[in-house]
Amino acid sequence: MSTDELDPAGIDLSDINGFWSRPIEYRHAAFDALRARPGLPFYAEPDFSFGQPGPGYYALTRLDDIVTASRTPAVYISGEGAAGAVDFPVELREFYGSMINMDDPRHGRLRRIVSRGFTPKMLDALTDNVSQVATRIVDEVIESGECDAVADLAAKLPLTIICDMMGIPASQHRFVFDTTNVILGTQDPEYVPDRSNIFQAFLDAGQDMANLVRELAKLRAEHPTDDLISKLTNAEIDGESLTPDELASFFILLVAAGNETTRNAISWGIDLLTKNPEQRTAWLADLDGVTPTAVEEIVRWASPVIFMRRVLAEPAELSGQRLEPGDRVLMFYWAANRDPAHFEHPERFDVRRSPNPHIGFGGPGPHFCLGAHLARREITVMFRELLTRIPDIHATAEPARLSSQFINGIKRLPVAFTPGGTM
Ligand code: HEM
Repeated sequence: MSTDELDPAGIDLSDINGFWSRPIEYRHAAFDALRARPGLPFYAEPDFSFGQPGPGYYALTRLDDIVTASRTPAVYISGEGAAGAVDFPVELREFYGSMINMDDPRHGRLRRIVSRGFTPKMLDALTDNVSQVATRIVDEVIESGECDAVADLAAKLPLTIICDMMGIPASQHRFVFDTTNVILGTQDPEYVPDRSNIFQAFLDAGQDMANLVRELAKLRAEHPTDDLISKLTNAEIDGESLTPDELASFFILLVAAGNETTRNAISWGIDLLTKNPEQRTAWLADLDGVTPTAVEEIVRWASPVIFMRRVLAEPAELSGQRLEPGDRVLMFYWAANRDPAHFEHPERFDVRRSPNPHIGFGGPGPHFCLGAHLARREITVMFRELLTRIPDIHATAEPARLSSQFINGIKRLPVAFTPGGTM
């Protein structure tokens, strides 16, 4: 679909069941049309059954605008809520008021404490575990020659790693998986079937997660281990530790941010290799050389987090549009990652793309994804495992997409490969 066919005036980014359920190609064409029009398009807020009715938002679709906003956190603030299009009611803030929705000095303090769990040294120590888990995941399906790439391959790696890091026992992994599906899938009737009570489902999911982490924290206070919960609660990290509420909301952020995103990147990657066989051939021909650029290209293409929000604290101007304090902007990473001002042939999936200045992990600034290194490592290890052991893995149907304005998710993706694998 070409941009000329689309009238920007007919596009409504707040129409969850209309706009966000249409084919991906339409979505790309719509954002191309919005990017090409002068100024910034403005939208009323989506109609959720919870959240205060707000004044609406400007959509940022150009990479330069999003970089400017991310880089200027004193003007474009997160403390009024960044992870969603609407203001959260106070009842939800106990569980969902994590550092992604904070500004300095509170954000800086929390980020300093939790970053200790994400140093390169910690990640090196994790790498062996990531590889072993990936091998086990492929072992479990390799003889069958078919599986669901989301549940059986892509979801298991980030879930197991994040739970192992936090010290969540294997018996609770399924619970964490189901609960994060509710937290990030509230717009999808499959995850929250009772559409009259989305608010309650969201609140209960936060409450259940908080209860799990509080119980674990109590156990670790008595018997510390080397997991992240022990480090963050008992922890003398520069003499600082997290309060029980801070720990609960950080934990919810981490499992939500760390699971769904990486899961979707891996699932989209498998779909992309199916639809672009020449890219698979190029990758297989030079696995070591191509993997780093291929991983970045998958994140650019998938853009698993579609947007983050900022609220103006001071007057500013973007793309010729004057913004006033209290105005809201949604930074559509999804659109910026196809901005022709920065990407040659942005519509092409090119595993050797270089340079690739995508902002799938956020723009440069204090909120840049804390788990970016871990996510890159997980995607790298998973594709190495797939491309060496079952290199002909391919989707046998179109992905079943999550209905969401916020997460570019896949719920199911049937795949097939030579049973037992090929050497
Ligand atoms: C492909 C996978 C991933 C993508 C695309 C992704 C994307 C993002 C984006 C767009 C942001 C917001 C940046 C901003 O507001 O400026 C973010 C923040 C964050 N991500 Fe990720 N993420 C991924 C994986 C992970 C993983 C594996 C973890 C942890 C295990 C993680 C933890 C976080 C945290 C804690 C924040 C909040 C940082 C802050 O506010 O200071 N993410 N991520």
